[in-house]
Amino acid sequence: MKRLVRIAVIGASGLVGRAVVRELGTRADWKVIGTAHRRADHRTVALDIREAAAIEAFVAQHTPDAIVIAAAERRPDVCERDPELARALNVEAVRTIATAAKRHGAWVLSLSTDYVFDGTKPPYRTDDPPCPINAYGRSKLDGERALRQATDLGCVLRLPLLFGHIVEWQESAVTSLAPALVASAAPDAPAAVMDDWATRYPTFTDDVAYVIRQMLERYEHGEPICGIAHWSGAEPMTKFEIAKRIARALGIAARIEPQPASAEATPRPRDCQLDASRLEALEIGRRTPFDEALRSVLDAFPLDQR
Ligand SMILES: NC(=O)c1ccc[n+]([C@@H]2O[C@H](COP(=O)([O-])OP(=O)(O)OC[C@H]3O[C@@H](n4cnc5c(N)ncnc54)[C@H](OP(=O)(O)O)[C@@H]3O)[C@@H](O)[C@H]2O)c1
Repeated sequence: MKRLVRIAVIGASGLVGRAVVRELGTRADWKVIGTAHRRADHRTVALDIREAAAIEAFVAQHTPDAIVIAAAERRPDVCERDPELARALNVEAVRTIATAAKRHGAWVLSLSTDYVFDGTKPPYRTDDPPCPINAYGRSKLDGERALRQATDLGCVLRLPLLFGHIVEWQESAVTSLAPALVASAAPDAPAAVMDDWATRYPTFTDDVAYVIRQMLERYEHGEPICGIAHWSGAEPMTKFEIAKRIARALGIAARIEPQPASAEATPRPRDCQLDASRLEALEIGRRTPFDEALRSVLDAFPLDQR
Protein backbone atom coordinates (compact mmCIF):
# COMPACT_ATOMS: atom_id res chain seq x y z
CA MET A 1 0.00 0.00 0.00
CA LYS A 2 1.22 3.50 -0.90
CA ARG A 3 0.80 6.37 1.49
CA LEU A 4 -1.97 8.46 -0.04
CA VAL A 5 -3.31 11.08 2.31
CA ARG A 6 -2.97 14.48 0.67
CA ILE A 7 -4.16 15.02 -2.89
CA ALA A 8 -3.77 18.37 -4.63
CA VAL A 9 -6.31 19.29 -7.30
CA ILE A 10 -4.87 22.14 -9.38
CA GLY A 11 -7.82 23.95 -11.00
CA ALA A 12 -10.43 22.97 -8.40
CA SER A 13 -12.74 25.80 -9.48
CA GLY A 14 -13.18 24.52 -13.05
CA LEU A 15 -15.82 22.25 -14.56
CA VAL A 16 -13.78 19.07 -14.04
CA GLY A 17 -11.91 20.24 -10.93
CA ARG A 18 -15.14 20.80 -8.98
CA ALA A 19 -16.40 17.30 -9.83
CA VAL A 20 -13.04 15.79 -8.83
CA VAL A 21 -13.01 17.62 -5.48
CA ARG A 22 -16.60 16.43 -4.78
CA GLU A 23 -15.78 12.82 -5.65
CA LEU A 24 -12.48 12.66 -3.74
CA GLY A 25 -14.16 14.33 -0.76
CA THR A 26 -16.27 11.19 -0.27
CA ARG A 27 -13.10 9.44 0.99
CA ALA A 28 -12.93 10.64 4.60
CA ASP A 29 -9.29 9.53 4.93
CA TRP A 30 -8.11 11.74 2.04
CA LYS A 31 -7.27 15.39 2.48
CA VAL A 32 -8.02 17.24 -0.74
CA ILE A 33 -6.25 20.56 -1.31
CA GLY A 34 -7.85 22.44 -4.20
CA THR A 35 -6.31 25.45 -5.93
CA ALA A 36 -8.03 28.17 -7.93
CA HIS A 37 -6.98 31.36 -9.64
CA ARG A 38 -9.66 33.98 -10.47
CA ARG A 39 -12.34 32.08 -8.56
CA ALA A 40 -10.23 31.38 -5.46
CA ASP A 41 -12.32 31.42 -2.26
CA HIS A 42 -12.17 30.12 1.32
CA ARG A 43 -12.33 26.49 0.09
CA THR A 44 -9.31 26.80 -2.21
CA VAL A 45 -5.69 27.91 -2.15
CA ALA A 46 -4.99 30.82 -4.53
CA LEU A 47 -2.38 29.79 -7.09
CA ASP A 48 -1.43 31.28 -10.44
CA ILE A 49 0.20 28.43 -12.35
CA ARG A 50 1.97 30.89 -14.66
CA GLU A 51 4.31 31.52 -11.70
CA ALA A 52 6.80 28.68 -11.37
CA ALA A 53 8.00 29.82 -7.95
CA ALA A 54 4.44 29.85 -6.63
CA ILE A 55 3.90 26.26 -7.84
CA GLU A 56 7.10 25.11 -6.16
CA ALA A 57 6.17 26.88 -2.91
CA PHE A 58 2.68 25.30 -3.01
CA VAL A 59 4.04 21.78 -3.46
CA ALA A 60 6.74 22.30 -0.81
CA GLN A 61 4.18 23.60 1.69
CA HIS A 62 1.40 21.05 1.16
CA THR A 63 3.58 18.04 0.21
CA PRO A 64 0.80 16.24 -1.70
CA ASP A 65 1.17 12.49 -2.28
CA ALA A 66 -0.63 12.87 -5.61
CA ILE A 67 -1.49 15.83 -7.85
CA VAL A 68 -4.35 16.12 -10.35
CA ILE A 69 -3.83 18.88 -12.93
CA ALA A 70 -7.25 20.15 -14.06
CA ALA A 71 -6.15 23.76 -14.70
CA ALA A 72 -5.73 24.68 -18.34
CA GLU A 73 -6.80 26.98 -21.13
CA ARG A 74 -9.32 24.69 -22.82
CA ARG A 75 -11.09 27.10 -25.20
CA PRO A 76 -9.79 26.44 -28.75
CA ASP A 77 -10.57 29.99 -29.95
CA VAL A 78 -8.65 31.57 -27.05
CA CYS A 79 -5.67 29.25 -27.67
CA GLU A 80 -5.69 30.25 -31.33
CA ARG A 81 -5.74 33.97 -30.45
CA ASP A 82 -3.27 33.76 -27.55
CA PRO A 83 -0.82 30.87 -28.10
CA GLU A 84 1.49 32.29 -25.41
CA LEU A 85 -1.20 31.94 -22.76
CA ALA A 86 -2.01 28.45 -24.03
CA ARG A 87 1.65 27.50 -23.78
CA ALA A 88 2.07 28.99 -20.30
CA LEU A 89 -0.91 27.07 -18.88
CA ASN A 90 -0.99 23.92 -20.99
CA VAL A 91 2.75 23.25 -21.33
CA GLU A 92 5.06 25.18 -19.01
CA ALA A 93 2.83 24.93 -15.92
CA VAL A 94 2.43 21.17 -16.47
CA ARG A 95 6.22 20.85 -16.71
CA THR A 96 6.76 22.82 -13.49
CA ILE A 97 4.07 20.91 -11.57
CA ALA A 98 5.37 17.54 -12.79
CA THR A 99 8.96 18.47 -11.91
CA ALA A 100 7.90 19.50 -8.40
CA ALA A 101 5.84 16.29 -8.09
CA LYS A 102 8.85 14.19 -9.07
CA ARG A 103 11.00 15.96 -6.48
CA HIS A 104 8.46 15.09 -3.77
CA GLY A 105 7.77 11.55 -5.03
CA ALA A 106 4.13 12.35 -5.88
CA TRP A 107 2.11 10.64 -8.64
CA VAL A 108 0.74 13.23 -11.04
CA LEU A 109 -2.27 12.96 -13.32
CA SER A 110 -2.64 15.55 -16.07
CA LEU A 111 -5.85 15.96 -18.08
CA SER A 112 -5.59 16.19 -21.84
CA THR A 113 -7.86 16.10 -24.84
CA ASP A 114 -8.99 14.04 -27.84
CA TYR A 115 -8.00 17.13 -29.91
CA VAL A 116 -4.40 15.83 -29.95
CA PHE A 117 -5.72 13.74 -32.90
CA ASP A 118 -6.79 15.02 -36.33
CA GLY A 119 -10.09 13.14 -36.28
CA THR A 120 -9.67 11.33 -39.60
CA LYS A 121 -9.09 7.72 -38.39
CA PRO A 122 -11.14 6.90 -35.30
CA PRO A 123 -11.09 5.13 -32.94
CA TYR A 124 -7.78 6.25 -31.43
CA ARG A 125 -5.72 4.01 -29.17
CA THR A 126 -3.33 5.43 -26.59
CA ASP A 127 -0.34 4.55 -28.79
CA ASP A 128 -1.73 6.04 -32.03
CA PRO A 129 0.40 8.95 -33.27
CA PRO A 130 -1.17 12.32 -32.37
CA CYS A 131 -1.58 14.98 -35.05
CA PRO A 132 -3.35 18.07 -33.68
CA ILE A 133 -4.90 20.52 -36.14
CA ASN A 134 -5.36 23.57 -33.90
CA ALA A 135 -3.40 25.57 -31.32
CA TYR A 136 -5.30 24.05 -28.38
CA GLY A 137 -4.50 20.48 -29.49
CA ARG A 138 -0.86 21.37 -30.15
CA SER A 139 -0.44 22.97 -26.72
CA LYS A 140 -2.05 20.00 -24.95
CA LEU A 141 0.18 17.56 -26.87
CA ASP A 142 3.27 19.57 -25.88
CA GLY A 143 1.97 19.48 -22.29
CA GLU A 144 1.71 15.68 -22.47
CA ARG A 145 5.33 15.53 -23.64
CA ALA A 146 6.45 17.95 -20.91
CA LEU A 147 4.83 15.73 -18.27
CA ARG A 148 6.53 12.61 -19.61
CA GLN A 149 9.92 14.37 -19.75
CA ALA A 150 9.58 15.63 -16.17
CA THR A 151 8.53 12.45 -14.39
CA ASP A 152 8.12 8.71 -14.87
CA LEU A 153 5.45 8.70 -12.15
CA GLY A 154 2.90 10.55 -14.26
CA CYS A 155 -0.17 9.80 -16.32
CA VAL A 156 -2.00 11.72 -19.05
CA LEU A 157 -5.75 11.16 -19.13
CA ARG A 158 -7.21 12.18 -22.51
CA LEU A 159 -10.87 13.14 -22.51
CA PRO A 160 -13.44 14.19 -25.15
CA LEU A 161 -16.17 16.86 -24.95
CA LEU A 162 -17.22 17.20 -21.31
CA PHE A 163 -20.36 18.37 -19.56
CA GLY A 164 -21.31 18.47 -15.91
CA HIS A 165 -22.72 20.59 -13.14
CA ILE A 166 -22.38 24.21 -14.19
CA VAL A 167 -22.39 27.68 -12.68
CA GLU A 168 -23.02 29.24 -16.10
CA TRP A 169 -24.17 27.86 -19.48
CA GLN A 170 -20.87 28.69 -21.21
CA GLU A 171 -18.83 26.40 -18.96
CA SER A 172 -19.28 23.46 -21.30
CA ALA A 173 -19.70 23.22 -25.07
CA VAL A 174 -22.76 21.03 -24.34
CA THR A 175 -24.70 23.37 -22.06
CA SER A 176 -23.54 26.45 -24.03
CA LEU A 177 -26.02 25.37 -26.74
CA ALA A 178 -28.99 25.95 -24.41
CA PRO A 179 -29.46 29.76 -24.65
CA ALA A 180 -29.77 29.63 -28.47
CA LEU A 181 -32.30 26.80 -28.15
CA VAL A 182 -34.37 28.75 -25.64
CA ALA A 183 -34.25 31.82 -27.93
CA SER A 184 -35.33 29.75 -30.96
CA ALA A 185 -38.48 28.66 -29.14
CA ALA A 186 -39.83 32.24 -29.03
CA PRO A 187 -42.56 33.10 -31.57
CA ASP A 188 -41.08 34.15 -34.96
CA ALA A 189 -37.52 33.57 -33.72
CA PRO A 190 -35.01 32.22 -36.26
CA ALA A 191 -33.99 28.56 -35.97
CA ALA A 192 -30.86 27.66 -33.99
CA VAL A 193 -28.30 26.26 -36.45
CA MET A 194 -26.29 23.38 -34.98
CA ASP A 195 -23.23 21.54 -36.32
CA ASP A 196 -24.18 18.16 -37.76
CA TRP A 197 -20.70 17.43 -39.13
CA ALA A 198 -18.43 16.52 -36.21
CA THR A 199 -19.14 13.44 -34.11
CA ARG A 200 -18.63 13.99 -30.39
CA TYR A 201 -18.75 11.67 -27.38
CA PRO A 202 -20.13 13.86 -24.58
CA THR A 203 -18.74 12.65 -21.28
CA PHE A 204 -20.11 13.44 -17.83
CA THR A 205 -17.62 15.08 -15.46
CA ASP A 206 -18.99 13.06 -12.50
CA ASP A 207 -17.95 9.90 -14.40
CA VAL A 208 -14.52 11.41 -15.15
CA ALA A 209 -14.12 12.23 -11.44
CA TYR A 210 -15.05 8.65 -10.57
CA VAL A 211 -12.42 7.35 -13.02
CA ILE A 212 -9.81 9.64 -11.45
CA ARG A 213 -10.72 8.39 -7.98
CA GLN A 214 -10.30 4.79 -9.20
CA MET A 215 -6.91 5.66 -10.69
CA LEU A 216 -5.84 7.22 -7.38
CA GLU A 217 -6.98 4.08 -5.58
CA ARG A 218 -4.79 1.98 -7.91
CA TYR A 219 -1.85 4.20 -6.94
CA GLU A 220 -2.76 3.73 -3.30
CA HIS A 221 -2.65 -0.03 -3.82
CA GLY A 222 0.86 0.21 -5.28
CA GLU A 223 -0.27 -0.15 -8.92
CA PRO A 224 0.29 3.34 -10.37
CA ILE A 225 -1.13 3.86 -13.86
CA CYS A 226 1.48 5.76 -15.85
CA GLY A 227 1.88 6.86 -19.47
CA ILE A 228 -1.28 7.61 -21.44
CA ALA A 229 -4.88 6.61 -20.69
CA HIS A 230 -8.17 7.46 -22.44
CA TRP A 231 -11.65 7.84 -21.03
CA SER A 232 -14.81 8.60 -23.03
CA GLY A 233 -18.55 8.38 -23.05
CA ALA A 234 -19.85 5.80 -25.52
CA GLU A 235 -22.76 7.65 -27.17
CA PRO A 236 -21.69 9.30 -30.45
CA MET A 237 -23.63 12.42 -31.42
CA THR A 238 -23.26 15.69 -33.31
CA LYS A 239 -24.10 19.03 -31.70
CA PHE A 240 -27.38 18.91 -33.66
CA GLU A 241 -28.31 15.69 -31.84
CA ILE A 242 -27.11 17.08 -28.50
CA ALA A 243 -29.25 20.18 -29.08
CA LYS A 244 -32.36 18.08 -29.73
CA ARG A 245 -31.79 16.24 -26.46
CA ILE A 246 -31.25 19.46 -24.51
CA ALA A 247 -34.48 20.91 -25.93
CA ARG A 248 -36.33 17.74 -24.96
CA ALA A 249 -34.89 17.79 -21.43
CA LEU A 250 -35.81 21.48 -21.02
CA GLY A 251 -39.29 20.79 -22.40
CA ILE A 252 -39.06 23.59 -24.99
CA ALA A 253 -40.24 23.61 -28.61
CA ALA A 254 -36.87 24.75 -30.00
CA ARG A 255 -36.47 25.17 -33.76
CA ILE A 256 -33.17 23.53 -34.67
CA GLU A 257 -31.56 23.31 -38.09
CA PRO A 258 -28.64 20.99 -38.90
CA GLN A 259 -25.45 22.55 -40.30
CA PRO A 260 -24.04 19.82 -42.58
CA ALA A 261 -20.52 21.31 -42.99
CA SER A 262 -18.08 22.61 -40.39
CA ALA A 263 -18.60 26.35 -39.87
CA GLU A 264 -16.20 26.90 -36.93
CA ALA A 265 -13.60 29.67 -37.20
CA THR A 266 -10.99 27.48 -35.46
CA PRO A 267 -10.41 24.13 -37.22
CA ARG A 268 -11.80 21.18 -35.29
CA PRO A 269 -11.31 17.45 -35.89
CA ARG A 270 -14.29 15.49 -37.24
CA ASP A 271 -14.27 12.32 -35.12
CA CYS A 272 -11.74 11.68 -32.35
CA GLN A 273 -13.37 8.65 -30.73
CA LEU A 274 -11.05 7.57 -27.91
CA ASP A 275 -10.46 3.87 -27.34
CA ALA A 276 -10.72 3.45 -23.55
CA SER A 277 -9.77 -0.23 -23.48
CA ARG A 278 -6.67 0.29 -21.33
CA LEU A 279 -8.73 1.53 -18.36
CA GLU A 280 -11.63 -0.84 -19.13
CA ALA A 281 -9.23 -3.81 -18.92
CA LEU A 282 -8.32 -2.62 -15.42
CA GLU A 283 -12.04 -2.51 -14.57
CA ILE A 284 -11.91 1.25 -14.28
CA GLY A 285 -14.77 3.36 -15.56
CA ARG A 286 -18.40 4.39 -15.29
CA ARG A 287 -20.76 5.71 -17.97
CA THR A 288 -23.94 7.44 -16.90
CA PRO A 289 -26.39 7.48 -19.85
CA PHE A 290 -26.25 10.88 -21.57
CA ASP A 291 -29.92 11.80 -21.12
CA GLU A 292 -29.84 10.89 -17.42
CA ALA A 293 -26.66 12.90 -16.78
CA LEU A 294 -27.96 15.86 -18.81
CA ARG A 295 -31.20 15.93 -16.85
CA SER A 296 -29.32 15.94 -13.53
CA VAL A 297 -27.18 18.87 -14.75
CA LEU A 298 -30.20 20.89 -15.93
CA ASP A 299 -32.24 20.09 -12.80
CA ALA A 300 -29.40 21.31 -10.56
CA PHE A 301 -28.89 24.60 -12.46
CA PRO A 302 -30.98 27.20 -10.62
CA LEU A 303 -33.80 28.51 -12.78
CA ASP A 304 -33.04 32.14 -11.95
CA GLN A 305 -29.54 31.76 -13.43
CA ARG A 306 -30.82 30.43 -16.74
N1 LIG B 1 -14.22 20.97 -20.99
C1 LIG B 1 -14.05 20.07 -21.95
O1 LIG B 1 -14.95 19.81 -22.79
C2 LIG B 1 -12.76 19.30 -22.00
C3 LIG B 1 -12.62 18.28 -22.97
C4 LIG B 1 -11.44 17.54 -23.01
C5 LIG B 1 -10.42 17.80 -22.13
N2 LIG B 1 -10.56 18.81 -21.21
C6 LIG B 1 -9.44 19.07 -20.30
O2 LIG B 1 -9.90 18.94 -18.97
C7 LIG B 1 -9.18 19.84 -18.12
C8 LIG B 1 -10.17 20.66 -17.30
O3 LIG B 1 -10.98 21.43 -18.18
P1 LIG B 1 -12.24 22.25 -17.65
O4 LIG B 1 -13.30 22.14 -18.67
O5 LIG B 1 -12.55 21.86 -16.25
O6 LIG B 1 -11.67 23.73 -17.69
P2 LIG B 1 -12.28 25.05 -17.02
O7 LIG B 1 -13.67 24.81 -16.55
O8 LIG B 1 -12.02 26.14 -18.00
O9 LIG B 1 -11.37 25.26 -15.73
C9 LIG B 1 -10.06 25.73 -15.87
C10 LIG B 1 -9.39 25.76 -14.52
O10 LIG B 1 -8.09 26.27 -14.71
C11 LIG B 1 -7.86 27.29 -13.75
N3 LIG B 1 -6.94 28.28 -14.26
C12 LIG B 1 -7.04 29.05 -15.37
N4 LIG B 1 -5.99 29.89 -15.44
C13 LIG B 1 -5.22 29.65 -14.35
C14 LIG B 1 -4.02 30.20 -13.85
N5 LIG B 1 -3.35 31.18 -14.51
N6 LIG B 1 -3.51 29.74 -12.69
C15 LIG B 1 -4.16 28.75 -12.02
N7 LIG B 1 -5.30 28.17 -12.43
C16 LIG B 1 -5.83 28.64 -13.59
C17 LIG B 1 -9.23 27.90 -13.52
O11 LIG B 1 -9.22 28.61 -12.30
P3 LIG B 1 -10.11 29.95 -12.06
O12 LIG B 1 -11.41 29.72 -12.79
O13 LIG B 1 -10.24 30.02 -10.57
O14 LIG B 1 -9.33 31.09 -12.65
C18 LIG B 1 -10.10 26.64 -13.49
O15 LIG B 1 -10.03 26.04 -12.23
C19 LIG B 1 -8.28 20.67 -19.06
O16 LIG B 1 -7.00 20.10 -19.07
C20 LIG B 1 -8.91 20.50 -20.42
O17 LIG B 1 -7.96 20.64 -21.45
C21 LIG B 1 -11.71 19.56 -21.12
